[in-house]
Amino acid sequence: MAEASARAHPNIALVKYWGKRDADLVLPVAGSLSLTLDEFPTTTTVRLDPAAVADSFTLGGVAQQGTQLSRVTEFLDVVRELADSDVRAAVTSISEIPTDAGLASSAAGFAALAAAAAAAYGLDLDQRALSRLARRGSGSATRSVIPGLAVWHAGDDEGSFAEAVDGPELRMVTVTLSRTPKAVSSREAMVRTARTSPFFPAWVTSTEETLQEALEACAQGDVERLGHLTELHAHRMHAVIESCDPPIRYLSPTSLEVFDEVARMREAGRRCYATADAGANVVVLTTPEDAEHVAAELSVHGETRVVRPGPGVELISRTESA
Ligand code: PMV
Repeated sequence: MAEASARAHPNIALVKYWGKRDADLVLPVAGSLSLTLDEFPTTTTVRLDPAAVADSFTLGGVAQQGTQLSRVTEFLDVVRELADSDVRAAVTSISEIPTDAGLASSAAGFAALAAAAAAAYGLDLDQRALSRLARRGSGSATRSVIPGLAVWHAGDDEGSFAEAVDGPELRMVTVTLSRTPKAVSSREAMVRTARTSPFFPAWVTSTEETLQEALEACAQGDVERLGHLTELHAHRMHAVIESCDPPIRYLSPTSLEVFDEVARMREAGRRCYATADAGANVVVLTTPEDAEHVAAELSVHGETRVVRPGPGVELISRTESA
């Protein structure tokens, strides 16, 4: 009976992924760019169980049912097809981030699950193949396979993977404002945005342009340019989300206060740029020199933490027992 464990970290997008071109294959409408963090890991163990009739999924010691379980089962079906297996598995996962609070728990979760499941089912995947596989669980997981800065190419099934990008030395300051699950899942909200926002086509074309500019800024080590594009693109993503029908708003009044405070610190000479994913929490892109100051200033709004670029997904163990 094979068992494997893997660990992955969340990533925060500087150029956001929002919208699928193909929902089954999880192909994005445009490419994106992110930084994998070195905090808040998810550790997942997959144990094959030939006697089981169904998969099971335990998160933080609690047996999961409904959507959480069916997403894991659907993902394992992709792995089973690749491995030509019909054996069910017991999945246990420990996450150090609050699930569904907008800090990309699904990215770390599916990157760890992809590596653990691939190893347990005996697949020998290189980094690119693992990134493509993680994509099938959750789009943002494509990038958590990769350490540090990662670009996710839009591509077709073969060409839609993430890879490492060289760039300036960066830090992120996480500002945790909300631990409550978001009202509308990013999956559902993406579909609604694509179907109902009149701005969606402009979002798609401008995202590809922003990505090219951001990649140039990385190559030049230009923190100001990369930071400017990061904050701009966060505003654009939230604008397109807010323009769908019925509207969805992830940012809270406190999130906007943090954005304003970050702009004030920037005017005072600090290099800091705010962004937020599908939730109220704000993450600030900054430099090693400015990170502690930024974290201290923002701690009146919420719990802050200085985070460094982190590793890609790591296989911790693989065992085979009779
Ligand atoms: O991977 P998903 O389906 O949870 O999508 C997350 C999308 C954002 O986090 C909002 C943006 C991004 O690029 O990570």
